[in-house]
Amino acid sequence: MTGGMPRCYQICVIGCGYVGLVTGGCLAYLGHRVVCVDLDRDRITALQNGVPVIHEPGLAEIQRLAEKRLLYTTGGTEDMAQADIIIVAVGTPSLPDGGVDLTQVEDALRKIAGIHQQRERQVVAIKSTVPAGTGEWASALLQSGRQPTAARRTVVSNPEFLREGSAVGDMLYPDRIVVGTVDSWALEMMENLYQPILTQNFSVPPGIPRPHDFPLPAMVRCKPVTAELIKYAANAFLSVKVSFINEIAGLCDKLGADVRQVAVGIGLDRRIGPLFLQAGIGWGGNCFGKDTAALLATAREYGLEMPITKGAVEVNRRQRRMVIEKLQQELKTLRGKTVGLLGLTFKPNTDDLRDAPALAIAGQLVRLGAFVKACDPVGVPGCRQQYPDLAITYADNVLDLAKGCDALVLVTEWEEFRHLPLPALAEVMRQRVLVDGRNVLDPLEVAAAGFRYVGFGSNQQS
Ligand SMILES: NC(=O)c1ccc[n+]([C@@H]2O[C@H](COP(=O)([O-])OP(=O)(O)OC[C@H]3O[C@@H](n4cnc5c(N)ncnc54)[C@H](O)[C@@H]3O)[C@@H](O)[C@H]2O)c1
Repeated sequence: MTGGMPRCYQICVIGCGYVGLVTGGCLAYLGHRVVCVDLDRDRITALQNGVPVIHEPGLAEIQRLAEKRLLYTTGGTEDMAQADIIIVAVGTPSLPDGGVDLTQVEDALRKIAGIHQQRERQVVAIKSTVPAGTGEWASALLQSGRQPTAARRTVVSNPEFLREGSAVGDMLYPDRIVVGTVDSWALEMMENLYQPILTQNFSVPPGIPRPHDFPLPAMVRCKPVTAELIKYAANAFLSVKVSFINEIAGLCDKLGADVRQVAVGIGLDRRIGPLFLQAGIGWGGNCFGKDTAALLATAREYGLEMPITKGAVEVNRRQRRMVIEKLQQELKTLRGKTVGLLGLTFKPNTDDLRDAPALAIAGQLVRLGAFVKACDPVGVPGCRQQYPDLAITYADNVLDLAKGCDALVLVTEWEEFRHLPLPALAEVMRQRVLVDGRNVLDPLEVAAAGFRYVGFGSNQQS
């Protein structure tokens, strides 16, 4: 499958979530032998039986292609002992004060500390997003373990930048790989681990084409604390970029300017770039919210203000409130009105509902006395299961959703929601209001179908 592989490692990935499964699947595809470990027995049983546990395009195919080198287990003690590289990919959720809950990381590290490594040298690569300084803490924790005297084990910071919905492609064709370590032998092992990706010397898997004109990815070699901060700085910067265009969108609404054209106009400037300039409801998901909160919590520990990151978070909160305000403006009172949400997951092509704007919007609408309906290509079962108390009526398709609604809100820009059967929807609705929370619809087309189009900084064309 791969050619010119300098070194094939025994890998143990701890944590079978979005990051762990994609990392494990791709590394096995590239020729390494991988054991993925998780505490969740049901998850492991499903994985052992080839049943997908997350919705991630291309992942099932990669796992199938790599199945001879890819195992799943709830135990893992022996696999950790024998691994050249242990990759920690467990969750790092937020604490109530915005800090990071490192319980899962600590549990994983304590388990590793208690194991006699069988390799002379072993790398523990932390791929979970962890606050600056965690690497040093992790090293101290591991040193408390019993080890044969000759054995050497080092902690490396190896933050992950994949995006849910395109995670397999992001792993195989990354912009960069960041490795934080001061040990030259650990660095060499990490270079060997990622060699096929760094040289792009592997056969392209079906369905995950290499992007056109893809340059070889850079490897950023730095101290662990720098690597840890790179991850937070990257997510904070992207959050700022989105919140910035949302701030401009608010002004466009006042002035009658079109934020979509503003985005094109500024994005053509190479210093700015066209990506992440899509105005709308704002970001959600497992990363931006918790990572900006964590960055601010770290700064607070040093008495440092970070007004730009703080502002990005505040603007993002405002965007969610703005959906409600726009609905109030159109429908006046929301009590007794029915609002249909197009999309539940925090972005398209994933089933992840963590910090999804749709959930916050639905909750607020219900508090204001509205009835909420929702439809999503993959998010409904997870929403029913994880948020059983949320008073949402689920629809199987967009026509079902629109029936009896006073307004529709496009929350998640799934491909199928970009091509709505507008005249058919208009026919079954009580009132025809369409809030385009992602600015992906054509205002003229929506208006031609009899709707009142409400965008984010893009209304002037209707
Ligand atoms: N999801 C993303 O898009 C993304 C992108 C980049 C970085 N990250 C970071 O990567 C980390 C993982 O994120 P995720 O979305 O994959 O999380 P997740 O919640 O989907 O998965 C974590 C998994 O770890 C398992 N786990 C917890 N403690 C364990 C232990 N001690 N031993 C074995 N398994 C254990 C859990 O059962 C769960 O299946 C987080 O720090 C996150 O911030 C996530």
